[in-house]
Amino acid sequence: MKIALACDHGGINLKEAIKKHLEKNNYEVVDFGTDTTDSVDYPDYAFKAATAVAQKDADCGILVCGTGIGIGIAANKVKGIRCATVGDTFSARMTKAHNDANMIALGERVTGIGLGLDIVDAYLNSSFEGGRHQKRVDKIMEIEKLLNNR
Ligand code: RB5
Repeated sequence: MKIALACDHGGINLKEAIKKHLEKNNYEVVDFGTDTTDSVDYPDYAFKAATAVAQKDADCGILVCGTGIGIGIAANKVKGIRCATVGDTFSARMTKAHNDANMIALGERVTGIGLGLDIVDAYLNSSFEGGRHQKRVDKIMEIEKLLNNR
């Protein structure tokens, strides 16, 4: 499985820890940066990773900024992306099971490394349940289509 990773300066430590963790567990990682603590704009990095996921160059994506909020909002502007900002393992599991989220966003200033890695595992080890949830996800994507055709 190929995973797109990206962060801003506020998420670099957690992004690096996630990268190491994923590689150790034999996931293929595509790292879109940032790679230093120099201040950058999170939408630029969200856009790169979200585009890779939307274009199916990666199976899913994991984003990190200070809160996980800005980078998640930005990712959701890319057509085809369902990105959930998560700070607990239950939400991480459920957003794959019920929302078929193809990206998650974490906040390094909110979530420590230990919990952050557990959140990543909970998300990756969960599966979309389909059924009644498929209809709801379809409705989300229908809204995206309606708005894009305006
Ligand atoms: C950067 O200082 C910070 O605003 C960013 O990492 C993130 O928390 C935004 O939502």
